[in-house]
Amino acid sequence: MSPSSPKLTIIGDVGVDVILGPINDWPEIGTETITEKHELRPGGSACNTALALNYVGGEYTLLSLVGNNHFGKWLSSHFANTNSYFSECNQPTTMSVCLTHSCSERTIFTTKGHLEHMEYEHAVARLAPAQSDKDIVLLTGVFLTPKLRTTYIQLLKHLHDLGYQVALDTGWPTGGWNAEVRREVLEWLPYINHLLVNKIEAFNLADTQDISAAMDMIHECMPEGATLVVKLGSEGSMGRQNGNTVTAKAQPVEVQDSIGAGDSFNAGYLHARILGLDLYTSLETGCNLASTVISRSPRGDIRDGELAVLAETKITA
Ligand SMILES: Nc1ncnc2c1ncn2[C@@H]1O[C@H](COP(=O)(O)OP(=O)(O)OP(=O)(O)O)[C@@H](O)[C@H]1O
Ligand SMILES: [Mg+2]
Repeated sequence: MSPSSPKLTIIGDVGVDVILGPINDWPEIGTETITEKHELRPGGSACNTALALNYVGGEYTLLSLVGNNHFGKWLSSHFANTNSYFSECNQPTTMSVCLTHSCSERTIFTTKGHLEHMEYEHAVARLAPAQSDKDIVLLTGVFLTPKLRTTYIQLLKHLHDLGYQVALDTGWPTGGWNAEVRREVLEWLPYINHLLVNKIEAFNLADTQDISAAMDMIHECMPEGATLVVKLGSEGSMGRQNGNTVTAKAQPVEVQDSIGAGDSFNAGYLHARILGLDLYTSLETGCNLASTVISRSPRGDIRDGELAVLAETKITA
């Protein structure tokens, strides 16, 4: 990528994922279960997106916070070759234990750890003004970073003042959706150029179970030219921009590890957008990358650049 190419910056949640499974049934209290598979890898939405970008050879800057224990240093070491920056706080690094189930569902236990202490200053540390109006900042994990959440409007305004397009994946609110959360997220929408949510999140945000009505309602709250993306699991994704609604189908795959499906989608979609590709092609790239990533286990075996073909064929097409 040349120095003048648009840039992608990710600001959000990073943590440590310990993934164990698959299990068929929930164990009885007081027992021990031996699992066939295990993986230890950088996790959290921001890391999942960054790792998926590595697989397609995409460039990015990751800005986040880590704890001051061994795992904080371990996390930042994974991104030493990128232009990323991790502030450090005097807390243990947040960890997630993810149990995969044979039915492809997963159950996750997450510690509070350092994420509870991430705030505005950590998010904007080392954030330079955008070099072009095509530069994008992706925001992730807002509901896992409660201090940062209290200054989200301030952060969104600052990103716009710096000249960035803003992409947001809300994720699932930790306390579930209610009128207050809905109102809060609706206040953010006028600053969001790419909203990346799944179908249930779209239903809850718009307070309707009708996908078309939900997309109408949400898209109307976004700025002119903005893109609303709704992720549809095995059915792929839908997107709306400038009055056009398009659908991209997902590849049928055997899911091995569905953790970070949505984050991997975001990586493919934003990588394609940064390369200047259109809405449909960007959705398709997101779907292809996500479906491929979740069909691989252990995921740590995917080499940097190994999946570049998923985006390259689109550029030359
Ligand atoms: N069973 C599946 N088969 C094929 N592809 C899938 C499957 N599940 C998810 N995907 C791919 O992953 C993308 C994102 O998944 P999903 O729609 O579940 O997002 P999400 O709910 O935001 O995910 P997450 O729970 O990781 O946040 C889909 O658009 C699709 O391309
Ligand atoms: Mg999601």
